[in-house]
Amino acid sequence: MIPPEFIQALLSRVDIVDVIERHVPLKRAGANFSACCPFHNEKTPSFTVSPAKQFYHCFGCSAHGTAISFLIEYQGLSFVEAVKELAGMVGMVVPESQALHSRARSTLDGQVSIDAIHEALHVAMHYFRGELKRSEAAIAYLKQRGVSGEVAAKFGLGYAPDGWQGLATEFPDYQSGVLLQAGLVVDSPEGRRYDRFRNRVMFPILGAKGNVIGFGGRVMGEGEPKYLNSPETPVFEKGHELYGLTQARRAIRDGGEVIVVEGYMDVVALAQHGVENAVATLGTATTGTHIQKLLRQADQIVFSFDGDKAGRGAAWRALENSLPELVDKKQISFLFLPEGHDPDSFIREFGGGGFMEKLRDALPLSEFFLRELKAGVNLRSQEGRAQLTENAKPLVQKIKAPIFSLQIRKRLAQEVGLAQGELDREYGIKGQVKSRRTLSSGHSVRQAPSLARQLLKCLIAMPELARGVINEMPDEPCIESDVIPEVIGYVRQATAPVTTAGLIQGMADPAHHSLLNALCREIMGEWQDDFDVQKWFDDVLRKIDAAGADKKFEALQAKSQHEKLSLEEKAHFQRLISTRT
Ligand code: UTP
Ligand code: MN
Repeated sequence: MIPPEFIQALLSRVDIVDVIERHVPLKRAGANFSACCPFHNEKTPSFTVSPAKQFYHCFGCSAHGTAISFLIEYQGLSFVEAVKELAGMVGMVVPESQALHSRARSTLDGQVSIDAIHEALHVAMHYFRGELKRSEAAIAYLKQRGVSGEVAAKFGLGYAPDGWQGLATEFPDYQSGVLLQAGLVVDSPEGRRYDRFRNRVMFPILGAKGNVIGFGGRVMGEGEPKYLNSPETPVFEKGHELYGLTQARRAIRDGGEVIVVEGYMDVVALAQHGVENAVATLGTATTGTHIQKLLRQADQIVFSFDGDKAGRGAAWRALENSLPELVDKKQISFLFLPEGHDPDSFIREFGGGGFMEKLRDALPLSEFFLRELKAGVNLRSQEGRAQLTENAKPLVQKIKAPIFSLQIRKRLAQEVGLAQGELDREYGIKGQVKSRRTLSSGHSVRQAPSLARQLLKCLIAMPELARGVINEMPDEPCIESDVIPEVIGYVRQATAPVTTAGLIQGMADPAHHSLLNALCREIMGEWQDDFDVQKWFDDVLRKIDAAGADKKFEALQAKSQHEKLSLEEKAHFQRLISTRT
């Protein structure tokens, strides 16, 4: 994809402090900078940015990474988008690689670029907004639905007039492939082109960077389909996007909570009544990607779906897709409104206060989980209990969060009248999740970190150390030992100085990449600003040399006991004896 040398060069030019400062106000704290963590809700700052390592780390939620990972996590960008954004900040141009071209070619006809699509969507959004101001009918429709001018502006609502080629006034080249690829027009089988959205109130859907990536358009009054949406395009993937996220981001961060609803109008109506932390899926089920995105920004997700059967179904699907994404200490719950209500109608009837109060009734995920599973079986019979155990099994197995899984298994075991150990055996879950306490205070002494690990940590903290002489390699079978030669090779073949962040991003193997990330976090937690890495590195090298010599000595000594050593070996043995104290 993007050449590694480019990433190196980019990371040596970009300053992570500038990048993060654009989004999060940083305060100097010794050699580092600190702030309240943007990835979780907190009152005292535990988010630290190291200019020396070009790395950030939160001691609270353990978010961490480079400038590239920051943009990926914070703005929800893809890797390529993040690299492009950083390059733009320092005036570098990302070399258009094979992969980028082929993506554009395979999904777009001819020479249409992603930028051109973004541009067309942007022009269309402005056009629709202008048309809304001129349409009495559309204004009346929104008024009648209780939407103020202010909220309409906040969401960039617009109106697509009733005509076949309204967009032609904005796009002199109405036949351009860009309009088709942007999903703004449709070509009939007879080859006539017309606007996709006609006589509809328009809801722009914004992407991670706040730019428009698609639209939903509602008929005013009755008509089919009620909502017409942009098709999937190179810039719009429904299962990844959430309506209203850009507008809700601040409120989500401030309160640590996000409300997920089903409809465009639900988001708008909630905002109208002061509930600004709501987002909607786009007529699709809630996906794992949605959940991941939301859990990065909020500690708590509340799904609020309609009180009807379809709403229940949607909630259950959201639950199933949430299970693999669950994180201990983060909460997911489900709010069911009275039959016949959706969040829009509910808040219009009961007001913002009424809705907030109702939120307290939200069922924790574990409760909803058990309630639904129990609903289909008769727990008074042996068969019913076996059935529940069986039905829950594949779902429980999807849960990766240890504490969460344990809680659910405890509850389930109670319901079906098994001991938890028996249920775990039934589910193929071995042993219990040990609490941190027993792990660290349990057995004898904690093992000192291996020499390989220490050497690697020095190299991560100061990659340029790798250019010096390293005689002995640690002789320990562990992943650190495997990675060290790669790290050394990487630094030595680089033509410019390698930073910590550059080194981490430079690891091609994902396992190595995450090991380096994890060790860098350790470094930031353990090594104070004035920690002398160079001195520690020299010490570690000496220990490695000594350990190597010890091993050799023992080997030669053992050998000398039942066979004759060669002259060379003898000399070596003598040397080792003389250096031993
Ligand atoms: P709803 O039918 O619940 O609509 O669809 P709503 O949000 O309550 O709309 P109003 O209040 O009648 O205006 C929920 C969501 O499902 C998708 C849309 O994303 C909508 O917001 N949907 C629904 C469609 O994509 N197409 C449709 O025809 C209907
Ligand atoms: Mn509705």
